[in-house]
Order: sequence, then structure tokens, then C-alpha cells
Amino acid sequence: MPGMTGTESLARCIAIDGPTASGKSAVGRALAEALRVGFFDTGLMYRACTLAVARAGTPLDDERAVTALVCSLPLDMRWPDPTEPHVFLGDEDVTSLLRTPEIEAKVSLVSRIEDVRVELVRRQREIASREPVVMAGRDIGTRVLKEARTKIFLDASSEVRARRRLGEELDSGRTSTFDEVLSATRRRDELDNTGDRAIHPDQRAHDALLIDTDALGIDEVVARCIEAYRRLNPGT
Ligand code: C5P
Repeated sequence: MPGMTGTESLARCIAIDGPTASGKSAVGRALAEALRVGFFDTGLMYRACTLAVARAGTPLDDERAVTALVCSLPLDMRWPDPTEPHVFLGDEDVTSLLRTPEIEAKVSLVSRIEDVRVELVRRQREIASREPVVMAGRDIGTRVLKEARTKIFLDASSEVRARRRLGEELDSGRTSTFDEVLSATRRRDELDNTGDRAIHPDQRAHDALLIDTDALGIDEVVARCIEAYRRLNPGT
């Protein structure tokens, strides 16, 4: 934004954390639309790196090789529409290739490598210091945007999250069962529970607002987030 310093841009961002399928994307998109800023889904970055690693045939247990590849990637985020982040590897828009079972199965193995995280956190901060964004992930309030005034932690039981995810999978033509999706959801939580990541509410940033979405509709969740944003950024 014209006239805004990098420091103020980082402080103005909204950080959203929470476990898999807790509603971060739906809430993040709605907030981005209401506040007229970009929605930055950091999971897409980890997924795009996983795609690049798979394409290169780099063994996932070779942490140095995976890190070297990630650091060399021409990875970029662009916003044809503020609510729809697209991720590019060079000139190729890979966004539509990132929600496959193959990527889902491997992404936690890439994202647990600390040097990969250092590199992606650096790139995420660089983008957020250009102009305020709504940024969603697992370590946004605890690491990437510690200075963001508005931090939200979205929680929901694993059963509710699995039911939501099952709906998405059935809609996209897959034939998963509830029990399969429930155990995949729990497994991803377990694999993602390392480092500065907040998967459980008690791991959230000390100044993050906790919202349990089990019994709330999306409109109610978004309204609470906007109220917090306006209170913490007077005059916006
Ligand atoms: O949010 P989404 O499910 O798309 O994220 C995919 C994976 O990327 C997560 O399961 C996690 O392993 C990793 N991730 C992460 N830190 C973030 C965002 C995503 O480790 N900030």
C-alpha cells in the first residue's frame, strides 16, 4: 500500500492458524474479501515445494538435497483475484495440481525439515511486508508474523474436521469413507505437530484469539475476526 512501511504492513496482517480442515481457507477468503486484501494460503507454498521435489525425484529423507532444491525454486504467489491465491513455479501456475492424495501424503515430510521452513518463512515475510495480507498456516502467529496485531486460532474437533473434508472429497468425485478421512486427519495433525507450529489450542500464540468453530457458522466466525481486527487496528 502506498505510504505504508514494511513494519506497519506486517503489523496490519491477520494471522490465522489451526489444524488441518479447521476452516482457515474459508474464513481467510471471506476476511480477505471483506477487508480488501489478499488471502495468502501458506499451505500452497509447502504443497508446491512437495510437487517440485516429487518431479525432481529427490528422496524425501535427503534433507540437504530437498532444502537445496527448495532454496533454488522460482516460487511465486500471485493474486488474479484477492481471495484466490495462485502459486507459480517459474511461469507455470501449479495451483490446480496441489490437492492430490500424492501431495497430501508427502507434504508433511517436506514441511518438517527446519531449513525448508526457514526459507519459506523468509519468503512469506517478504511478501507480507509489501502490503497487508490475511495469512493462513500453522506457524503464522507463532513465527512468521509474530508482530501481527490480529492473530486468530481456529479449532474444531477431529470428527467435525473429517466430516468437512469428506464433503469436499465426495464433491470432487473421490470415494473416501468417514473413517479413512478421520484417520488421515489425525495422522496429519500428528505429523505436523513439530517445531513452532500450533496444531492444538494450547500451542497458539499467547495473544491469539481462540475460536472453536464446531458450533459456529462461517459468518459468525468471520464477524468475530473482523471485530478483533477493527479493535486492534483503530481507524481502519
Ligand atoms: O494448510 P494445508 O493443509 O494446505 O497445508 C499443507 C501442509 O503444509 C500441512 O499439512 C503442513 O505440513 C504444511 N504447512 C506447514 N506450515 C504452514 C502451512 C502448511 O507446515 N504454515
